[in-house]
Amino acid sequence: MSIKTATLNGVATIEIARPEKKNAITQAMYRSMAQALEAATADAAVRAVLITGQPGIFTSGNDIEDFMQRPAGSESPAFGFMRALIGCDKPVVAAVTGAAIGIGTTMLLHCDFVYVADDARLAMPFVSLGLVPEFGSSLIVPQLMGNVRAAEKLLLGDPFSASAAVEAGIANAVLPATEVLPHARRVAERFNALPPGAVRETKRLMRRARNAATLETIGIEGGVFAERLLSPEAQEAFSAFFEKRKPDFAKF
Ligand code: COA
Repeated sequence: MSIKTATLNGVATIEIARPEKKNAITQAMYRSMAQALEAATADAAVRAVLITGQPGIFTSGNDIEDFMQRPAGSESPAFGFMRALIGCDKPVVAAVTGAAIGIGTTMLLHCDFVYVADDARLAMPFVSLGLVPEFGSSLIVPQLMGNVRAAEKLLLGDPFSASAAVEAGIANAVLPATEVLPHARRVAERFNALPPGAVRETKRLMRRARNAATLETIGIEGGVFAERLLSPEAQEAFSAFFEKRKPDFAKF
């Protein structure tokens, strides 16, 4: 099982657990995460959701083999997961140690609280893979940090540190790696003492304006992303990854 779920003391935890592949997320894993989020949203006993990875790796992003094998025209189960995340009306807290790549960073843009270890490295290297940003990141990242700093992350795909994530408003705080998960859990558990209706309505109000624009952007990005997946540029990037060589984009 590559996604572990557990509900304890009002907190539903979703743990990405595929360390042998650096927590790369497969289609089946997206489905499990979507189900867990939907179950948490529906369960009155759950007051908050906690998303985490393994010590030293949050996730290396979408499984690149799945990217290569996706049939044309099919919607990735990543959409179901991200819709469930964006639609979750309970607070979602993320605890990140190590790398958070691709959708690993994108999903943080839709969490309510994000705690990062001092060893965390975030990156959205979609262009390097012949792809484009996804799930609202082409809108949200420039809004958060301004166009020129967003260009470093989205056009060049430069990784950035935990403190840069805090500075950009993507994360709340940098903590020692061993403190991240316990701290995130303590924050999630605080919602046991708060009135759930007021929390739910406040989250809805905070997201109202942004969600309309985000959902529209997700549709547009999704169409371009699906085309890019089939592009010769992306095929070259995926092959290069598994052949452990540098991609050659000079021929395009
Ligand atoms: N999809 C599929 N497999 C992946 C993967 C991914 N996103 N990320 C890592 N793996 C696999 C590797 O192929 C390798 O498999 P193998 O042992 O069968 O050869 C294994 O996980 C370990 O990865 P490796 O690259 O050897 O680990 P590392 O510590 O040197 O580097 C990363 C870790 C995360 C920096 C590196 O794996 C990486 O850059 N991954 C791809 C990130 C990416 O581009 N994601 C997509 C974003 S849209």
